Formats: sequence, C-alpha cells, structure tokens
Amino acid sequence: MNSKGEIKRLFEPESVAVIGASGTPGKIGYSVVRNLKNGGYEGKIYPINPKADEILGFKSYSGIGKVDGPVDLTVITVPASLTLASVEEAVAKGTKYITIITSGFSEVGDYETEEKIVACANAGGARVLGPNIFGVFSAAGKCNSTFSANNIFPGNVAILTQSGALGIAMIGKTAAANIGLSVLASIGNKSDLDEADCLEYVIHDNNTKSILMYVEGIKDGIKFMETLKRATAVKPVVILKAGRSERGAMAAASHTGSLAGSDEIFDAVIKQCGAARAETLEEAFNWCNFAANTPPPKKDNYVIVTNGGGIGVMATDACEQYNIPMYDDQNKLQEAFSPMTPAFGSVKNPVDITGGATSKDYNLALEASAVTKEIDGVMALYCETATFDTENLTPMVRDTYKRHMELGKPIVYALVGGEAVSDSIRTLQKDKIPAFSDVMHAVSSLGVAYNYQHYLTRKNDSVDWAKIDTKAINSIIDTALAEGRSFLLASEGYSVMKTAGISIPENSIVTTPEKATEAAEKMGYPVVMKVVSRDILHKSDAGGVILGIKGKDEVAKAYDTIMANSKKYNPKAVIDGIEVTQMVSLGTEFIIGGRRDPAFGPVVMFGLGGVYVEVIKDVVFRALPLNRQEAGDMLTGIKSAKFLEGVRGQAPRDRNSIIDAIIKVATILNECPKITDIEINPIVVYEEGKGLKAVDARIMIEN
Ligand code: COA
Repeated sequence: MNSKGEIKRLFEPESVAVIGASGTPGKIGYSVVRNLKNGGYEGKIYPINPKADEILGFKSYSGIGKVDGPVDLTVITVPASLTLASVEEAVAKGTKYITIITSGFSEVGDYETEEKIVACANAGGARVLGPNIFGVFSAAGKCNSTFSANNIFPGNVAILTQSGALGIAMIGKTAAANIGLSVLASIGNKSDLDEADCLEYVIHDNNTKSILMYVEGIKDGIKFMETLKRATAVKPVVILKAGRSERGAMAAASHTGSLAGSDEIFDAVIKQCGAARAETLEEAFNWCNFAANTPPPKKDNYVIVTNGGGIGVMATDACEQYNIPMYDDQNKLQEAFSPMTPAFGSVKNPVDITGGATSKDYNLALEASAVTKEIDGVMALYCETATFDTENLTPMVRDTYKRHMELGKPIVYALVGGEAVSDSIRTLQKDKIPAFSDVMHAVSSLGVAYNYQHYLTRKNDSVDWAKIDTKAINSIIDTALAEGRSFLLASEGYSVMKTAGISIPENSIVTTPEKATEAAEKMGYPVVMKVVSRDILHKSDAGGVILGIKGKDEVAKAYDTIMANSKKYNPKAVIDGIEVTQMVSLGTEFIIGGRRDPAFGPVVMFGLGGVYVEVIKDVVFRALPLNRQEAGDMLTGIKSAKFLEGVRGQAPRDRNSIIDAIIKVATILNECPKITDIEINPIVVYEEGKGLKAVDARIMIEN
C-alpha cells in the first residue's frame, strides 16, 4: 500500500477537504485552509463546517458527504471526541488519505479510539497519517496542508519529523538559514502510516536532493531499514534521533507512546543503511543543505587552505574524525601554493598562507586549488585579521566558489570572526554558498557528504549465510525447552558451536575420576574441569570450576573437589557429570554474539571480549541480513581494532575466521527463532590462518 503512485496522493492530492475548517483566524482549522490557499494549491479545496457557508472565499459544506467531486485527502481538525465520526464520514466519501491534526489519542493513553480510527479507515481503503501532527507540505504538489507557517520556502531538502512542535520550529529555522523545503511531513503517533511510508514518497520526489529525519522511536524496524536503504541508494539521509541517554529515551517513549529502541543498535542500523546521524539540529541542517547544493565529494584528495595555524589544526583533526583523506603530494602542493605563501607559512597540507594573507592571496590560493587537477576538494578557512581587506571577503568567497563549481569541485568555507564576518556568512548562505562560522560545521558537512559517497561506492546488497545443520541445533533447543529451561547447558552450547563449525576446545563429559583422567590424558595438559548441572548456573561461585590442571593426580583430586563443592553448594542439584576441557592457548579475546532487538529483529555483535566486556563496552552491532564485507566492517568498527593487527610484535589476527564466525552466528539467529541471545565470550583468536576457539557459549532460548 505504499508504492509511489498510492502514497503520492497524500502529498500531491487533487482535492482536499478540511473537516473542522473555520473562518476564525487563530484556529487550526482556519490556518489549514489559509495555508492551502496562500501556498498556491491548484487543486480543489473543500472546507467542512456545519455552521459556515463560506470560509476564506471557498464554499463550505455542512458535511463531507455533501461534496460533489472526489476527495483525495481529508485533513481533520475537529476535537478528539468528534474525530472518529469525522473519519467514518471521510471514509464513506471515499477519501484515500486522512491526516489527523487533532491530539488526544495514544500519546495520552487513548489507544482504543486510535485503533478504531485506523480500523475504520483501512476497512474503507483509506490510510491515516497521525493523529497528533501539524500536517504535510509538498513543493511538487504546491500543497501546504499544515496549520503552521503561512509560507514555506520551497527548495530541495525534505524533512520528516516525529515531533510536531520541533517540525514547526524547523520551518522557521530552515527559512532563517535559507534552506528551502521540498517536503515536510509530521508523522505523529504513527497509528497507520509511518516514517518509512513518507520516505517512500520522498525517494521518488524529484525536488528532494537530501532528507532530514527527526526520529524518537521506530516501531517497525525491518520496514524502516529496508526503506532507508532504498532512500540512501538515491539521496543522502541525515537522521537526528532523540533518546541517546537513558533518561532521554524514557522521555521520548512517554512523549510519543512508542518505545525508543536501544540506541547503540539504532546507531549501528542507520550507519549500515548509509544514513548519517546528527547530534544537533544545526548539524543536521548544515549537512542536508550542503549535500543538496554542492557537487558530491567522490574522490580522495582534499586540501585545507587557511590563514591561521590554529584553525588549520582544528580542521585537520576534524578531517581525521570524518575520515576525509588529506592530499599529501609535497611536490604538487609546493608547486600549487608557494607563489602566494610567504616563507614563514606552510605549503604542506594544511596550507597556511598566514595571517598576513589578503583577499588577493586567497583568490590566488583557491584558484590554484581549483585548477590543480590532483586536488579533489577544498576546505577554505578564514580567521578575521587586521590585515585582511574585509570588504572583499564576500566577493572573494563568491568568486572562488563559482570557480570551483565550474570545475565540479566541492569547496566549503569556515569564516571565523565578528559581526562583519557574520554578515558575510548570512549573505553567502542566501546564495546557497556553504559558508559557516565554525570549522567543525564546515569540515563535518564535507565529511558527511564524503562518507556518503564512500558508502555508495562500497554498497553491496549481497547477503551471506553459512551452511549449518540448524535442524540439529533446533532439536537441542527443543529438548532444553521441553525440560522447562530458558538456557542451554554449557555442553549443549558446545554442541551448537560444533554443529555450526565454530571451533571449540576439545572436551568431554565424564562421570568417574578414571574417565576424567583418561579424557585429560587424551587431549593433553593443561585442562579445565567444570561441573555440569542445570541446577548450578554460576559454576565458579559453587567452587565447580578448576583451571590449569596439569597431571593425572590433579585430575582425580579435582574431580572429587568439584563434586564435594557442588553438593555442598546445592545439595539438591542434579549433577550430570564433570566436563574436562583442553585449556586454550593464549590468543586475543573477542566477543561475538547476537540478540533479537524489539524493533530491528536479529542483530549480531562483535567486540573486545573477556571479563571486562561490560566495563569496556567496545562492541558494534549489525542487523541481519549481512554479508562478509559488512561483517568485516564490524572488525574495523571497534575502538580496539588495532588488536586485530597484532600488538607487541604479535602477527595479525585471523580476521577471516572471525568473519566466518559472525556469519555463522547470524545464520543461527536467522534459522533458530527460539534463540533469544547468543554470547560467545571469550572467543580466542590466533594469528592469520590459525583460526579461533570459542571458549564459552551462552545461549538463551524462549518458546
Ligand atoms: N464537522 C466539521 N466541523 C465541525 C464539526 C463537524 N462535525 N463539529 C465542529 N466543527 C467545527 C467547529 O464548529 C469549529 O469551527 P468554528 O470555529 O467555525 O466554530 C471547528 O470545527 C473546530 O472545532 P473547535 O471545537 O472549535 O475545536 P478547536 O479548533 O478549538 O480545537 C483541535 C480542535 C483539533 C485544534 C484541538 O482539539 C487539538 O487537538 N489541538 C491540538 C492540535 C495539535 O497540537 N496537534 C499536534 C501538532 S504537532
């Protein structure tokens, strides 16, 4: 129900009815009709009001049923108590889309009425956006059916927002920042249509060059990911999500009546789908505006030109943060920039033309960056100085920008200074020239656009699964569930690993000291011995684990000690035996896991493992399905990725075996739906070609 053709009528209707239209200025029902009229809407407008004959020059109808022609979109602005009845009338009229501006439904606990509204609409073949929204605007449809701004400045950035109030504020802010909008939609309670449905329209909207989404919580994560991937395949998407902190997440949940998903997973998912995450509104606006109006930074050689060493260093740091590759062919840099750089400046990147630089020096330097074909993009920084001819700042930026545009090269400016500089920035921004008052804003705008291009070139939609006998794994799970357990025993965890082909230390479960000795002798010392009992979960606390056993006598003694300790710890415990396991040799400890996220479904995890995993929390997530390239990106995505290169003279770790294991865990999660959590920790990884060993695998299950 959300293909381009169908959703299009919500944004570009041929006729709009407003139930609750009013002739009283200041009322929401008045503002919607006024905005439609003033926004230049060319379709039919039908105000519906039982008391009025005419509203803002349009014939008013006492009921929607009285309207002669068809109605594509019905906007509802009557109080909550009248909304269901209005929806029934709109559906009876055959309207296709209903936007409900009215508040007072699930967001304040009234789920029942909201459900009835959606059921009624859907039964009649209509879809609902809202309730609790400020409306929808589309430049293509010249249709401003919001109650907010009288005039929305048309342009090429689309905004989809879950928060209505923030959306209204964004209209003002975008206008102030000279950002024109192609689409604006308030998503509200998402009773029926959601952000993914609106994104569907924006994907196909030719006016839209970049997309900004404000999200509080995602209900259908799988649909969101699928649509987001298709959106980023054609245009850049920046997402501003509230709820990063735990308190913020709680506020967001109560605000919209939807649960904010776990933030780490949300973060991972949007990265995986090629979207950028902004921390502030300003960042989001800057990034979207830059991406919509500047040639894409597709290549890999960027230079910084500055008149101040300090801001040059700040920009260099920011380049590292945003992975912008710096051009460093010293000969070419020298050739390009020495004519205008004094001896005490620097022609190395960042190119420092020094505090004495005038507009003429900037013109020369930026002409050099424009014509040097090895340079692919520029960050031009200016710090206000006494020697600079300030009156020439705006023309210098204008001219050098034009030159770079002619040659298809991205350029971004950071102009730092007082009132005159701020005036200059405002003037330049009016002409869509990317001039910012802060180095970070300039570099991050280029960086986000660069990373988006990088994503597009690496984008690979293939999916990799492992060949695993998951039937065998499911039968282990069914046995455990039949015994009333919500977890697998360590020995069962090992069986799962073995079935999946994830290497485990040699092990054997025995029931006599003699058999224990026999097993230990066969696998070689040292060994570890552990109690096997479903009644003892924390084996170490029970004195049920002994490490580093080195000989026959120690095995027999350990057997007796573990038995005695376990019986003392829980006299009623059923003890299935004692597990004798080969102690694994030293390697690098990682963690591989997976779980089911309430919004995004199965996700896999990789990170630094061992006992401090919860303190260090250096883990990354990816939603399913994934391919080997994405699994490989998980390895480089952790902060301690350097461990994979081998530390203190170690050889590089066996990355391929980790990627194999991640794909195997993904396959298990996908094909064994009763597994809720898998955690292999530690998984000890050896040098390249030597594989890994899963030392402990905890698996939680649920019927
Ligand atoms: N059919 C059509 N119109 C009807 C009607 C019906 N069955 N019953 C009443 N109306 C008319 C009213 O007569 C009134 O018109 P009038 O000004 O000519 O008298 C109009 O509908 C609006 O009704 P009213 O009772 O005056 O409501 P209101 O304008 O004070 O409030 C809402 C209505 C929807 C604005 C309000 O309930 C609300 O939800 N406000 C919050 C909106 C919001 O913030 N949304 C989220 C934004 S992010």
